[in-house]
Amino acid sequence: MNVPRGANPTVSPTALVEDAVDRLRAAGAGRVEAGLILGSGLSYLAEDVDDPMTVGYDEIPGFPRSTVEGHSGHFVVGTLDTVPVGFAQGRFHLYEGYPPPWLALPVRVFAALGARFLLVTNAAGSLDPDHPPGTLLSITDHINLQFANPLIGRPTDEVTNPFPDMCNAYDAGLREQLTAIALEHEIPLREGVYAGVLGPSYETAAEIGLLRKIGAHAVGMSTVAEVVAAAELELPVVGISLLTNYATGLTAEPLHHDEVTEAAADARPRIEALVRAFIRSAASELRSV
Ligand code: HPA
Repeated sequence: MNVPRGANPTVSPTALVEDAVDRLRAAGAGRVEAGLILGSGLSYLAEDVDDPMTVGYDEIPGFPRSTVEGHSGHFVVGTLDTVPVGFAQGRFHLYEGYPPPWLALPVRVFAALGARFLLVTNAAGSLDPDHPPGTLLSITDHINLQFANPLIGRPTDEVTNPFPDMCNAYDAGLREQLTAIALEHEIPLREGVYAGVLGPSYETAAEIGLLRKIGAHAVGMSTVAEVVAAAELELPVVGISLLTNYATGLTAEPLHHDEVTEAAADARPRIEALVRAFIRSAASELRSV
């Protein structure tokens, strides 16, 4: 297998999670209420954290690195408006050459730190002419077109649920809260289905035509594996896509990654306000049950 620099395919994902958690605890990280995985260009969300403890992926022996521009590679643990949270600044993609189980590493690290829910964010292409670039979308469901699953090959003694259910993969209760928060703060938020593709090339117009026919509203190259791992761990998920561009065929413009990072920078005030208010609300809701 062609594995990226910094990755050692002989190390078990379980050992990587244990090492990451040890390293974070040694840096002073305690229990977190929420784990957040930050998508392309959205690393700034971790800058709002108070008393941050930062551990670079490169400080954890054998841990993979983020290799993509716009993705840094750090865990940041601290408090967001007094809620203990962990951020993964930078995630792992199949197109970087990582084996599927490695895509779930940040999810398993947050679960091991005690997270009670997971917020996944990503940059995605829009498949709906009514959802222009800059639209925020609450993910209602996904279609896994990566034809890979992070649970395949799990050591049998670690399998808690051999066939995880995906009927509430994006937790209905958390989604309702997200919608209510967006309304309250007057932040426009759409809903839709995310299609996860392999990448790294963008889609052809014919592929986008197919994705629209099968019910997708957004397309991206991440997220689905993380959400599958969270389902196995019974960790409730809420997902936000920032639609950074019209997908191929909806516009004559060729796609470029710069557009993704620029749209992410433009959306900062809205997405920051939404995420902060949501984390506060979800954490207080959890405390009251
Ligand atoms: N396609 C796939 N992934 C993406 C896109 C897209 O158009 N935009 C941002 N990530």
